[in-house]
Amino acid sequence: MAVPPQRLSVVDGALDAIGRTLEQVAGFGDRVAVEDPGFPPLFDLLDQLGMERVPLELDAHGVRPASLAAALAGDVRAVVVQPRAQNPTGRSLTSTRARELARLVRRHASPVVVVEDDHSGQIASARDVSLGTYLPDGVVHVRSFSKSHGPDLRIAAVGGPATVLDPLVARRMLGPGWTSRLLQRVLVDLLTDSDAVAAVEHARRLYYARQRGFAAALATHGLDVAPGDGVNLWLPVPDEATALVRLEAAGVRAAPGSPFRARRDVAPPGLGHVRLTVGMLRDDLDAVAAAVALAVGARPLP
Ligand SMILES: Cc1ncc(COP(=O)(O)O)c(C=O)c1O
Repeated sequence: MAVPPQRLSVVDGALDAIGRTLEQVAGFGDRVAVEDPGFPPLFDLLDQLGMERVPLELDAHGVRPASLAAALAGDVRAVVVQPRAQNPTGRSLTSTRARELARLVRRHASPVVVVEDDHSGQIASARDVSLGTYLPDGVVHVRSFSKSHGPDLRIAAVGGPATVLDPLVARRMLGPGWTSRLLQRVLVDLLTDSDAVAAVEHARRLYYARQRGFAAALATHGLDVAPGDGVNLWLPVPDEATALVRLEAAGVRAAPGSPFRARRDVAPPGLGHVRLTVGMLRDDLDAVAAAVALAVGARPLP
């Protein structure tokens, strides 16, 4: 974690950490700011908790300050952001932007907790930037080990102020209690064994190279997309349904973009997206890029 937290605990994944944190800092009917586009299960979690999502706009540096200022003025209790390898856009927060956003939260009249979902951890290439550097009492930072070390470990670390973490840990004792120490030992071994450390570092480099290689291949087929961090690539398409059908026919699996939208209104025509994953690409970069370009209409169908 970028900043040593007052309290540190281990829970059963990032979503578990976020859900438990939100239960401590907000209640039924409260408003919570989320990135748009963002992680669909987070939206479902908020629906389950009866919390209202307030969409935040993103640019290449992270959440737009004006958008956060508007959400704060709208009385949000919490703000959930992904500091790096944002799912689905692959963008990462810069430290200048983190400072700007932290300043806005600090100046806000009532306390707001920022929850940082560092879901990609060591497979992300961007630095581990945190608003906690500027707001040590107002940030809960979550680091998942699902993407870097395996989703079946079901482990995330959550660090933050005692005012949030102590009641979170106390509440959890009335349920699972703790995360299996056997699994925690497996993770400690993976984090300290030199072969395992090298394997994760190798994966990070591969994803970095695949993002750039695939963006370059797409460019040669007429599609201009900035490479992201981590495994996800957010691709604008003229029409989501058509693109998905064509991609499927070409054997390319993609996720529809609309579930990633925090806004409930339908995207206007011409503003659709699909999310691709570069994780499994190998020497087929060019063939896949050609199929994607055809499917999204960058090239006319033969
Ligand atoms: C943005 C984001 N948050 C949270 C998660 C879930 O992580 P975990 O498996 O640690 O619950 C994911 C997994 O894909 C994710 O992409």
